[in-house]
Amino acid sequence: MEQTGRGIWGSRLGFILAAAGSAIGLGNIWRYPYITGQNGGAAFVLLYVGCVFLIALPVLIAELSLGRRTTLDPVGAFKALSPSKKWPMVGYLGVITGIGILSFYAVVAGWTLGYIVRTIIPSTEDFAQFVANPFEEIGYFAAFLLLTMFVVLGGVEKGIERWSKFLMPALFVLLGALIIYNLTLPGAGAGIEFYLKPDFSKITASTALAALGQAFFSLSLGMGTMITYGSYISKKENIPISGASVAIADTTIAFLAGLMIFPALFSVGMEPTQGPALVFNVLPAVFAQMPAGNVISLAFFILLAIAALTSTVSLLEVPVAYMVDQKKWSRKKATVVVTAATFLIGLPSALSQGTVEWFSNLTVFGQQGVLSIMSFVFSDLSLPIGGFFISLFVGWVWGVDKAYQELLLNTSPMMAKILSLWGIFVRYICPLVILLILVSKILGI
Ligand code: PFF
Repeated sequence: MEQTGRGIWGSRLGFILAAAGSAIGLGNIWRYPYITGQNGGAAFVLLYVGCVFLIALPVLIAELSLGRRTTLDPVGAFKALSPSKKWPMVGYLGVITGIGILSFYAVVAGWTLGYIVRTIIPSTEDFAQFVANPFEEIGYFAAFLLLTMFVVLGGVEKGIERWSKFLMPALFVLLGALIIYNLTLPGAGAGIEFYLKPDFSKITASTALAALGQAFFSLSLGMGTMITYGSYISKKENIPISGASVAIADTTIAFLAGLMIFPALFSVGMEPTQGPALVFNVLPAVFAQMPAGNVISLAFFILLAIAALTSTVSLLEVPVAYMVDQKKWSRKKATVVVTAATFLIGLPSALSQGTVEWFSNLTVFGQQGVLSIMSFVFSDLSLPIGGFFISLFVGWVWGVDKAYQELLLNTSPMMAKILSLWGIFVRYICPLVILLILVSKILGI
């Protein structure tokens, strides 16, 4: 099963599950509902789904092809396919973005650990007090980074694939059960209306950028994660089908998470615009009134922590693969050093939830607090910018013809026909739409 000593996925399903494991995480269950809440609900949901299938899916297929063709990390992949020294910068941007996202993501993932503990040992602190407590914030943040480090040290197949196998079905069942329960709550109808009845006057350049950024974030795109994961796919795999399966699974889970949260939110009378605290405020309020709420709460936060872990592992994997492939570091050294650096970079985010006033009140790009600023810079700016350059590179530099040679392996003639559209998307539509959205946001349209 070893290929050039780098490791390879154990099976076809193994790859889809692992890529879906990277895609499905806090992005679906924590970030998607609060971004939807901040951006006015249903109209945003439509924009989001459009961004996933029209922009992000073609970029996903481009990243997977790049990875499988080169079997390299993101920096190496660009170096291998282009003589120019400039293109590998897209890979470097990905390595930095991976560390940037992991630094705040692991803070939120730490909250899920905290909520597992709080379900077992009840606490009198509410969410705001919990996140403002520096010992808990830093402790859980560090614990989550260590968990991630141990999984990454275990290597690709053993570490990542094993976790993903039971995660998705379990998450699916639990979300289904919670949706049914929450829909019966008094006042749930207003939540459904907010979530599913679009008001198009709510769409602005900011909403469009938020939808695009969320699509990239949720599918783990624009920073080379899927180049790295693609580099572990065997040649027997069919890339378009795998890519589409991942996009569908990811979007379904996000959509269900919204269906779970908004009826409950309106039922308990909270604000949809409250930001990162949303899920952590709403769900415990619902669990508290549920029969066997404690058991459900425990199951929910354990699943959320595992979903987060399969994503943090893929975030750490990008800088680690770069150090191992390009700098010839041992896997162990790369993993330990990158984890330690991420911890230091993440401290301001961890302390920005009411602990240190300056970190909590700092406002840039309309985002208040270091954690929200990091989330905006790395998810809404860095990922779409990365996606823009990846589509330009595959469309025009490496060239769609060469990409097609990789993509069409193991596809049916029917599929090949559908795929001829993909070339138009990566060459024209993806870069143009991304540019348009970024420029209109900068111009404040
Ligand atoms: N897709 C993950 C989520 O939705 O939680 C977050 C993520 C993982 C983003 C890996 C980017 C990435 F490279």
